[in-house]
Amino acid sequence: MVKILLTGVAGYIGSHVAVELLNAGYDVIGIDNLSNSCDKSIQAVSAITKKNITFYKSDIRDEDALQQIFSQHIIDACIHCAGLKAVAESVEKPLEYYDNNINGTMTLLKVMRRFGCKNMIFSSSATVYGDVDALPITEQTTKRDCSNPYGQSKNMIEQILQDLQNSDNSWNIILLRYFNPIGAHKSGKIGENPQGIPNNLMPYITQVAIGKRPYLNVFGNNYNTHDGTGVRDYIHVADLAKGHIKALDAIKINCGLKIYNLSAGKGYSVLDIVKSFEKVTGIKIPYQIKPPRNGDIAACYADASKALKELGWKAELGIDDMCIDAWNWQKKNPDGYK
Ligand code: NAD
Ligand code: UFG
Repeated sequence: MVKILLTGVAGYIGSHVAVELLNAGYDVIGIDNLSNSCDKSIQAVSAITKKNITFYKSDIRDEDALQQIFSQHIIDACIHCAGLKAVAESVEKPLEYYDNNINGTMTLLKVMRRFGCKNMIFSSSATVYGDVDALPITEQTTKRDCSNPYGQSKNMIEQILQDLQNSDNSWNIILLRYFNPIGAHKSGKIGENPQGIPNNLMPYITQVAIGKRPYLNVFGNNYNTHDGTGVRDYIHVADLAKGHIKALDAIKINCGLKIYNLSAGKGYSVLDIVKSFEKVTGIKIPYQIKPPRNGDIAACYADASKALKELGWKAELGIDDMCIDAWNWQKKNPDGYK
């Protein structure tokens, strides 16, 4: 059986990737320090798939722990989702973000190389593109300035991986640039579990719907978009997770370093999402218009045709499914995994 090391396995995206890996017959070795998650998500993955993850509660910066894991398992590829991801927090704590994301990745790569495991799929982000000149964004789009340490850490890791592959072409590396993952597994057993006040739109909306927050703050209504609110390319997290399985299929051949946008390829505004959520749930989402959030851009959406052409992957689920599944998760788990 093919063994995959999945870092960040307990997190929002990692847990959904774990489900798809187990369903596809992979053996999953999971690692997470639980700094932004808890092991209940891992139990939930087992409940969904009726299969188990071999889980290590460890930090990817802990070289000895990684060494132990690689000594115990012959690992074919690594899907590297572990990382800190809050944009605003990264501005407050740049050293912590660079240490965690960059040093964590460097340590992981060094141990992988030591054990001859040179297949890596990396969770990158649309944030690396910055405020680009023209939409939709393709993998060829010239990157613009990325103003926060979180985004910079993703950019730097992409560069490290490119340099590594240039130096040794036996590395096979796929950078997956995620756009805006939302929604949850259709079982409602795993989903996004923000700590404190959610930074992101969908968990905020579901918390308004369940009565935890009185109204949604809509950050800006004067952007150059169809209704003035910010436009993003939302992708169902289950579709995103399936993209990793397609990437694993592609990495089996000698692929060098490849980059793919994982997105649905459509832009929806904040108010489009609110309307869709209201339509599919029947719950009114009160909102107030607030000033634009620092660092936000007006619109960001991708051309995801390269992933279709080369990986045979495309997003199947639409915005209504994303809202239904996000709400199903919130309803079944009003306090997340607690
Ligand atoms: P998440 O916080 O839910 O999951 C990340 C997991 O990594 C957490 O379980 C956390 O405990 C773990 N982790 C963090 N640092 C670690 C370390 N040093 N050692 C071991 N484990 C560690 O976040 P997510 O939304 O699932 O994101 C997964 C990846 O996808 C991240 O790399 C993130 O930057 C990237 N990404 C996320 C989004 C998004 O909107 N969610 C968009 C683009 C890219
Ligand atoms: N928004 C609101 N109110 C909120 C939260 C968000 O109006 O309470 C708006 C934002 O202004 C933006 C849109 O909703 O227009 C989406 O915001 P999110 O915070 O959900 O997502 P972002 O596009 O800002 O960022 C997310 C991740 C980043 C990642 C990026 C691209 O947080 O880490 O997607 O993948 F880099």
